[in-house]
Parts: sequence; C-alpha cells; structure tokens
Amino acid sequence: MERLEVKKLHHHFGFTEILRDINFTLEKGKVLSIVGPSGGGKTTLLHLCAGLLDVEEGSVENSFISSSFAFQEGRLLPWKNVIDNIALGLLAKGEKTAVAVEKSKKIALRFGLEEEDFNKFPKDLSGGMKQRVSFARALVVEPSLLFLDEPFSALDIGLKKELQTVLIEMTAQKEISILFITHDLMEAIRLSDEILLLKADPGHIVKRFSYELPQNERDNKYVYNESAKILQDEEIINTFELELK
Ligand SMILES: Nc1ncnc2c1ncn2[C@@H]1O[C@H](COP(=O)(O)OP(=O)(O)OP(=O)(O)O)[C@@H](O)[C@H]1O
Ligand SMILES: [Mg+2]
Repeated sequence: MERLEVKKLHHHFGFTEILRDINFTLEKGKVLSIVGPSGGGKTTLLHLCAGLLDVEEGSVENSFISSSFAFQEGRLLPWKNVIDNIALGLLAKGEKTAVAVEKSKKIALRFGLEEEDFNKFPKDLSGGMKQRVSFARALVVEPSLLFLDEPFSALDIGLKKELQTVLIEMTAQKEISILFITHDLMEAIRLSDEILLLKADPGHIVKRFSYELPQNERDNKYVYNESAKILQDEEIINTFELELK
C-alpha cells in the first residue's frame, strides 16, 4: 500500500530549531492538511517530506509511486510561456511534445486560464494566474501524491472554490493523495480527512482533527459549522494567537 510515513522528524536551520518531533502518516487516497501560523515551519516540513531538503533526524518514508509539488511562490521558469511551463513535468516523463502541449492546454482551460494567456511569460501574469499555472503543472502529470503549499492563497474566492472542487472530485475517485498546507481553516475543513495543527517556535504538532464526511458531501453549512467549532478550540486560539472576546 502506498503511504507517506513521518516519524520523529526534527529539523534545524543553523542553530535554530525549526521542527520538533513530527509524526504522522498519510494513507493512499487521503488528504492531510497542515495548518499553523506564518513562520511555523510548514513549508520546511513539506520540503522534507518531498525530498527537497535532507532529513537530519527522524525519518520520512514515501512509498507513493509518483509525486509532484506546487510551490508557495509558483517557481515558474521565466523564459517559458504558460503552456511550456505546464508541460515541463510531462516532457520530463518522456511524453511526446504534441501530447504534452495538448494536455497542458486542456488543464489550463479547466483552471480558468484563457487561450490568449497561453503564450504569456510569467512576468506578464498576475499572482493568481501564476498560482494556477503552478498548480496545473503539478496536476497534469497525474501524480499519486500531490504536495501543495498554499496553492490558492492568491486566488479570489470564486476561483479558489472552483479549484478546490477539482481536488475534491479527484479525491472522491481516490485517484490522488494530498499533503496540503494552508493558512485557511475553512479550506482545510472543506478538503481534509485530517488536519494537523502546527504551533511555532519550534514547529510541533499540538492537535489533530479528523473529518469523516466525504468531501463531496460537505456543503457550506458543514464547513461553516465545523469552522465555528474549531475556532473555539483552545489550541487553535493559542496557536494562532486569536483573541476572541
Ligand atoms: N533555507 C533556510 N535557511 C534558514 N532558515 C530558514 C530557511 N527556510 C526557512 N527558514 C526559517 O524557518 C522558519 C520556518 O519557515 P517556513 O518557510 O517553513 O515557515 P511557514 O510555516 O511555511 O511560513 P509561511 O506560512 O509564512 O509560509 C522561519 O523562521 C524561516 O525564517
Ligand atoms: Mg510557507
């Protein structure tokens, strides 16, 4: 069975302790989110899980057959246009150029980009467009495991919901497993089977929340109700330094 297993993971940058004793398992077909305040070590944790940073202490065992990553800041190649950026992973996998371009165009349209954007270079895209290109580039290769670092943070609310729906459809078919990072508790509740709350200095998991209802049955009311519940949780209030009066 494909899975990602993180055990007793610690990480330092120089003398600064960034992550302490992180333990979790992501099973096939599940969505696991990590939420927590800025600077808490979420991106670092995701990079360690994806093999983009070396593990110093503890272990990360990833048995998923393939994976891809959508970066928080997009990381598009500035000298390639929208379609060529999306097609990168496909070409790296040995897909024929014509097929790669066709698949890339199709997914670009599905993600709300328009034909007139296809030949634009990253410098001519808005922040939200860059995020869509980055997200499309990660999904077009049909990975078994998807690493997402705040992929929707620059999108307006309508577009965000649309792309969330794309993910929900994919998870409903158990095609994909996702390790998801977000600041947005409602987004985490809409998408996740499990949410890990990461508190800062150093980053450590203080609480886990599980959601049983299938994602495609979660309506707005469910998401609002669960968000209201979670916002009253003492660990959430402490972790995000929310002062609810
Ligand atoms: N390459 C690096 N070298 C040194 N320190 C780093 C490096 N990358 C991150 N850090 C530090 O590690 C801490 C955690 O950073 P990280 O990017 O993992 O946080 P985050 O939870 O993703 O924050 P955000 O929500 O703002 O994206 C921060 O204090 C950051 O300054
Ligand atoms: Mg980050």
